[in-house]
Amino acid sequence: MSSQTPLTGSHKQESKLRKLQNDRLIKALKQQAVDRTPIWLMRQAGRYLDEYQQVRQHHPNFLSMCRCSDTTTELALQPLRRFDLDAAIVFSDILTIPEALDMGVHFQPEQGPVIASPINEPEDIDNLPFHEAPFKLNYVYHAVQSLRDALGNRLPLIGFSGSPWSLACYMISGRNTQNFQKAKRFSFAHPQATRSLLEKLSLLISDYLIQQAHHGADVLFLIDTWGGILPFSHYEHFALDPLKIIHSQLRQQGIKQPLLFYSKGFSSLHPNILKKQSLCQGLAIDWTVDLANTYRELTPQYTIQGNLDPQVLLAGPLATQQHTWQMLKNIHPKKHYIASLGHGILPNTPLESIHAFIDTVHSFNHANER
Ligand code: CP3
Repeated sequence: MSSQTPLTGSHKQESKLRKLQNDRLIKALKQQAVDRTPIWLMRQAGRYLDEYQQVRQHHPNFLSMCRCSDTTTELALQPLRRFDLDAAIVFSDILTIPEALDMGVHFQPEQGPVIASPINEPEDIDNLPFHEAPFKLNYVYHAVQSLRDALGNRLPLIGFSGSPWSLACYMISGRNTQNFQKAKRFSFAHPQATRSLLEKLSLLISDYLIQQAHHGADVLFLIDTWGGILPFSHYEHFALDPLKIIHSQLRQQGIKQPLLFYSKGFSSLHPNILKKQSLCQGLAIDWTVDLANTYRELTPQYTIQGNLDPQVLLAGPLATQQHTWQMLKNIHPKKHYIASLGHGILPNTPLESIHAFIDTVHSFNHANER
């Protein structure tokens, strides 16, 4: 698929790792010690910021906003102006892929995203325009490039994609109703067709991440929000096999950028499977998992990211401070670790709580120097 993908000629950047002024995140993912724990937050750009809401008002359509690189760059920079964060993330969405597959993606204000033409039968998979999709994703590479130009070498830039299984959930169910019951039913009724869909998505996503690396991304983040709804027996084939394909495609194409995998529902991952082979460099976990235990089990093979419950921040700065300190108590946060939330920031999060989270991680670092 790579050979067919459009590269924007002279705009193509080297996928070699660049020399960054702040390289804490990269060091952590390369299993090197850092002077201070790197911090970034899932969904750090978005509705909890007034300045986001102001820009959003001028764009009735969320996806058309994602196509305007001046806007996506501005939105990605907004949280960096307010908070002392160690990474930027390109402003985009995981549903750019079904959109590029002509499935008709719409964002309804109160309902979340809806796909107009979901997969109903196995034959629908064969009719999806997988070969044409890479050409329709150029706007995302421009967003990466534009953010990279604005950042210079100041901070690492995170490029991302939804995972094959999480995208398949939307592509089959059409929207998140009854915990993607339709997607799960389809996967049990048509296991071969499901695997074929996941393989096609894995190749497309590999290409998508590779292009983001070529255009200036320093870390590649694969987001599996819905792996946790799978039965344990299916997790390996539907969530981890695609990760294996993507990791090996990146390596085959000479991509040096570390791969960070977010799994909501990590508790269903089998630590032995993860230990047997290295499927990525970093694992981001949610708050239902014991961080200290995961850290003990899986470092130094994997760097662990997480895992404060984003709802703690809603309780205010004091609760945030206490829970953050507690989270860090039984790990070594200057090694093999990235401080973050266990999922995205919620829309009504108070800004003081975010400051409290960041300040507490920094204070913890200082307290442990003495
Ligand atoms: O700083 C960042 O991380 C912003 C970039 C970003 C967005 N979506 C912007 C966005 C990222 C990384 C995502 C990922 C994403 N999108 C996921 C995976 C992470 C997760 O939270 O589980 C998922 C499942 C989606 C799908 C999606 N997009 C939903 C369910 C929604 C609506 C509800 C919601 O949570 O906001 C969106 C829309 C969306 N994507 C918004 C933003 C800022 C809100 C759009 C608006 O302003 O109306």
